[in-house]
Amino acid sequence: MLAFKKTIPLYLHAEEREGLRAAGRFNAQLLDFLRDHVKAGINTVQLDKLAHQYTLDHGHTPACLGYLGYPKTICTSVNEVVCHGIPNTRPLKDGDIINVDITTIVNGWYGDQSETFMIGAVSNHAKRLVQTTFDALFVGIHAARRGGTVTEIGRAIQAFATTAGFSVVREYQGHGIGRDFHQEPGVPHYPVLASNRDLLKVGTCFTIEPMLNIGSWKTRVDPKDKWTVRTIDGALSAQFEHTILMTESGPEILTLTQNGPQEGHKF
Ligand code: MF3
Ligand code: CO
Ligand code: CO
Repeated sequence: MLAFKKTIPLYLHAEEREGLRAAGRFNAQLLDFLRDHVKAGINTVQLDKLAHQYTLDHGHTPACLGYLGYPKTICTSVNEVVCHGIPNTRPLKDGDIINVDITTIVNGWYGDQSETFMIGAVSNHAKRLVQTTFDALFVGIHAARRGGTVTEIGRAIQAFATTAGFSVVREYQGHGIGRDFHQEPGVPHYPVLASNRDLLKVGTCFTIEPMLNIGSWKTRVDPKDKWTVRTIDGALSAQFEHTILMTESGPEILTLTQNGPQEGHKF
């Protein structure tokens, strides 16, 4: 999340929710298409081209390309890169972890999600980080109660992550989503009391996208490309993201994949 275009919350009515659901479904389909290609030897520019072509072939629009000047269709964040990694020509290799974050626009509605992939055999420490980050996303989703507050999401994630010995990135957060990429409410992954004002009413749509680090939670933006966010200490970082709609019966995940890890998955 970078900046909000709109400052008012948006509660979606039934017809709008269907628009958002369709966007989430297509975005998940794109991630399922990409996952077969996320292997040692491929580079992230190749992944980006695949994502771009697939999106256009299905009549939809890549959301990141050109967004605030971002140069590519997807974000690919390898190892110590926290988020907003720009696809490049370095081939993925055994032992890497890579977050692939994709956002598409379907009939004006945004879908946004990411997964961290492990390439070949990764260290036990890296695997535990990825597992904990994946589980932290679901801890956050379950903390999102109808009529509850956004603070509860971050409180639950932070408690879970720190108990496991990892730190939670503070400078980037989840966000409201809808006809805009980033809108109110901001969704911090640690407890922020100001978020008590943000109520998770029925029709609220937002992302949860925790970034967990092995070392410090602090980050630094690459001074040259002005996008790539790295951990300040160079230690590993992982992230998972879903787009969520608050419904009468609680949080609904709009970006569920067919072939990816589901809640409870053991990597
Ligand atoms: N997909 C990211 C998010 O989860 C935002 C990426 S913005 C970009 O909010 F410009 F870097 F693509
Ligand atoms: Co997002
Ligand atoms: Co994203």
